[in-house]
Amino acid sequence: MEHISKLPNVETTIFSIMSGLAKKHNAVNLSQGFPDFGSDQKLIDLVSKAMNSGYNQYAPMSGNLDLRNAIAHKIESLYNSSYHPEHEITITAGATQAISTILNTFIKPHDEVIVFKPAYDSYEPGIVLNGGKSIAIQLQAPDFRIDWNEVEGKVNGQTKMIIINTPHNPTGTVMSKHDMLQLQNITKGTNIIVLSDEVYEHMIYDGEQHQSICLFPDLKSRSFLVASFCKTFHNTGWRIGYCCASKPLMDMFMQVHQFSVFCVHHPTQKGIADYMQDPKHYLKLSNFYQKKRDLFLNLIKDSRFKFKPSKGTYFQVLDYSEITQENDVDFAKRLTIESGLASIPLSVFNENKLDNKVLRFCFAKKDDTLKRAAEILNTI
Ligand SMILES: Cc1ncc(COP(=O)(O)O)c(C=O)c1O
Repeated sequence: MEHISKLPNVETTIFSIMSGLAKKHNAVNLSQGFPDFGSDQKLIDLVSKAMNSGYNQYAPMSGNLDLRNAIAHKIESLYNSSYHPEHEITITAGATQAISTILNTFIKPHDEVIVFKPAYDSYEPGIVLNGGKSIAIQLQAPDFRIDWNEVEGKVNGQTKMIIINTPHNPTGTVMSKHDMLQLQNITKGTNIIVLSDEVYEHMIYDGEQHQSICLFPDLKSRSFLVASFCKTFHNTGWRIGYCCASKPLMDMFMQVHQFSVFCVHHPTQKGIADYMQDPKHYLKLSNFYQKKRDLFLNLIKDSRFKFKPSKGTYFQVLDYSEITQENDVDFAKRLTIESGLASIPLSVFNENKLDNKVLRFCFAKKDDTLKRAAEILNTI
């Protein structure tokens, strides 16, 4: 019997390839987007306490109410914006499930979804699985700014959704208030839904303010705000995230959520709800990661790699065009095999694998790991 894949173009991801190579060659691994340090023991204790206190059966479909209240409170205090904890916030299995469920809920065959490249790799497969068409807008190195005239030119009657991501993986750029206002103008009076991927909202540097979708009332009314506790609390394996949207949008989301996961891991939700009672647990992250970024960049400032400091996320892109004109995938592999340092070539996130001679390095690593990586980069 022969079967036809619904995602025939999906290959083994570069993340698996680079991590496999890193392991084989015992390389320092800055390719993967997760920390090599543990999470706060206090949080682990709170999750254990929740398990020992009986939070072991199904959570409500939207998630543990204490956690939804904590999220509503956080958004209110940081952005002066309200989402009703009972109708407008849903806890998901990581941001990944929120993204996939949003796409499954709204994208129909032939719908167009505008995606900015380089883009996080789960957006396009989710669009394609639903018969939608990804309309790519390629951002250009080194600034990766959005040309809103280009966006306006791509919007038409088929445009169902626009996906934004700020702070941005992989480039480490952030959207400005001006960007958000442009997006608001372009979508005003349309039926376009905005999926705003804000999983790195608490990792933003140099005094930049995170421009959450919920700060812009017209945008907020048409948008899903997507966030992740995996990223925020150094526990990518826990698979807990959430999304927020107006009640009419969230009601439709719940129709699909109900039959895909119904609800997610309950004790983790309760533990995180208790942990969030102290806002410094998430407010201190920008400072914590900025120090890591600065350590890494200071150590490589005399290397032959060129960079603009990352403004957010825990990724730093480095331009190697002064070193070689080799294709970025080949160079990333060679750097891993011959020099013992793994990264991710940016072309894998780009339209038509555009190669700007740029690699992505994750600095959510112990200081010692960053020092070892810098030593290698300084020899290249
Ligand atoms: C931009 C972006 N969105 C979403 C996700 C997925 O987050 P989660 O681990 O919560 O599913 C990631 C993870 O790397 C990401 O970088």
